[in-house]
Amino acid sequence: MATPQILHLIPLILVIFISSSSARTINPSSFHHSKSLEKKGHQLIKDLNLHPNLDVNIVKSYNHSTYLDQELKVTQSGIVEKRLSLSVLGDSGATVHDLAQHAGYYRIEHTIDARMFYFFFESRKSKADPVVIWLTGGPGCSSALALFYENGPFKVTNNLSLVWNDYGWDKVSNLIFVDQPTGTGFSYSSSNEDIRHDETGVSNDLYFFLQAFFKAHPDYINNDFYITGESYAGHYIPAFATRVSQGNKNNEGIHINLKGFGIGNGITDPGIQYKSYTDYALANKLISQSDYTKINQQIPDCEEAVKECGTTGTTTCIQALDFCQQIFQDILDITGNINYYDIRKQCKGSLCYDFSNMESFLSQSSVKTALGVPSDIDFVSCSDTVNQAMLNDWMRDLEVGIPALLEQGIELLVYAGEYDLICNWLGNLRWVDAMVWSGQKNFVAASNVSFVVNGKEAGVMKNYGPLTFLKVHNAGHMVPMDQPVAALRMLQRWTTGKLTTPSKKIHKDFHL
Ligand SMILES: *[C@@H]1O[C@H](CO)[C@@H](O)[C@H](O)[C@H]1NC(C)=O
Ligand SMILES: *[C@@H]1O[C@H](CO)[C@@H](O)[C@H](O)[C@H]1NC(C)=O
Ligand SMILES: *[C@@H]1O[C@H](CO)[C@@H](O)[C@H](O)[C@H]1NC(C)=O
Repeated sequence: MATPQILHLIPLILVIFISSSSARTINPSSFHHSKSLEKKGHQLIKDLNLHPNLDVNIVKSYNHSTYLDQELKVTQSGIVEKRLSLSVLGDSGATVHDLAQHAGYYRIEHTIDARMFYFFFESRKSKADPVVIWLTGGPGCSSALALFYENGPFKVTNNLSLVWNDYGWDKVSNLIFVDQPTGTGFSYSSSNEDIRHDETGVSNDLYFFLQAFFKAHPDYINNDFYITGESYAGHYIPAFATRVSQGNKNNEGIHINLKGFGIGNGITDPGIQYKSYTDYALANKLISQSDYTKINQQIPDCEEAVKECGTTGTTTCIQALDFCQQIFQDILDITGNINYYDIRKQCKGSLCYDFSNMESFLSQSSVKTALGVPSDIDFVSCSDTVNQAMLNDWMRDLEVGIPALLEQGIELLVYAGEYDLICNWLGNLRWVDAMVWSGQKNFVAASNVSFVVNGKEAGVMKNYGPLTFLKVHNAGHMVPMDQPVAALRMLQRWTTGKLTTPSKKIHKDFHL
């Protein structure tokens, strides 16, 4: 009885083996690739203990009028906003005035029906602080992940209460979190056509949002503006910064006072970053010298494929992802259950982190009502569909637009927690060093200086002109979660032009 079952398994294993080995030598069928990459995206979501009810927030019918109640401030720019009154435990630290905190939707111009959800938290210190927008990566994960676990004004506890975060970035900035691309988090549409496939779509949506946001909040138009984010936002951020700069140059609308953009543990230049995996893994003793030599044999194929993909490729980029992802996969096959966001940690069971409280919190109907979310819209913590839709985009090089921004004096801060493998500091430092711009020589030659927080070295950085690189000690992929004090001080010093001035000075004028 057992024999037929065993026999049945053998051809199956062969099929899998043949298809995966042929993938690297013969022109691959894109079906096979998207299937295996799809599994990868799915696993990523499970590693964070997230279990969204929907694959994507494309909802064929929903009831808009459920959120058009009397409390909402409807503006002409397509923004529908609600003042938050969430109950939060502890002390906000704000004494001067009642905090203005908002959640809202922006009906995105030039789309079929896309609605972008955002939070806006007025600074707990001063309205004159810079406006900072944060973008979480994925692609396809909600920025609520950062809001509740990294740098938002409050955190969510096990019993689903909120407590003030003493190191929220709203302590030094007017802080915006957006759910994007469409279909992520609470952002939704009734049309599949609003799903984004590249940085042009993503950055246009963000640019139109920004225009509407400043129209609705004219008090902030003259504030300094900074774009920040993490991980896959290493793609979004340079594209968005370029889009803002173009909009300014072409007088498309409100002039945005873009001062800088900051990328935390990002993926920006895949050609250089994928090549750096084995060096990082070897230096951190995750793999042996012989593993290193063996895995490195794939680098030339990966490099070649990334070149083919370039900045606009499509199927060539999927092929590049397939070649290059194998380098990362081979390292994981050796390291086993390691948390690739933080190599000091193991993943327990299937979980690398547990962010499920956020999902439970935002799924409560009372919370949705408080946020002005229609009752029939679900929270999609991470969207598989949005993730897959961006597959062509993944291996494209987003470094290419950055030099033009630096030449305009727009600041770039690239920072990385030192224990992250997936978007490790080494790969990030290498692309930053390799970037060709007028200050390249001086940047490469710049000496390392300590990033000192509370009298202790919290990182090492180097700077020339508008460009700064910072390696953060004792942190993984999510720097503001692992080192909240250092991350907050990094933001404040950077946005006030004091990040790279001698630390003695910084101590004196820094009060939190
Ligand atoms: C939409 O929601 C409003 C407010 O809850 C309700 O009065 C209305 O009947 C709903 N419409 C539909 C078509 O369900
Ligand atoms: C929820 O947990 C917080 C601390 O994590 C505690 O202060 C609060 O009293 C708890 N609330 C309830 C209703 O148990
Ligand atoms: C600066 O630090 C980086 C990484 O920590 C290191 O690779 C580099 O050699 C250092 N540069 C100098 C000039 O010491």
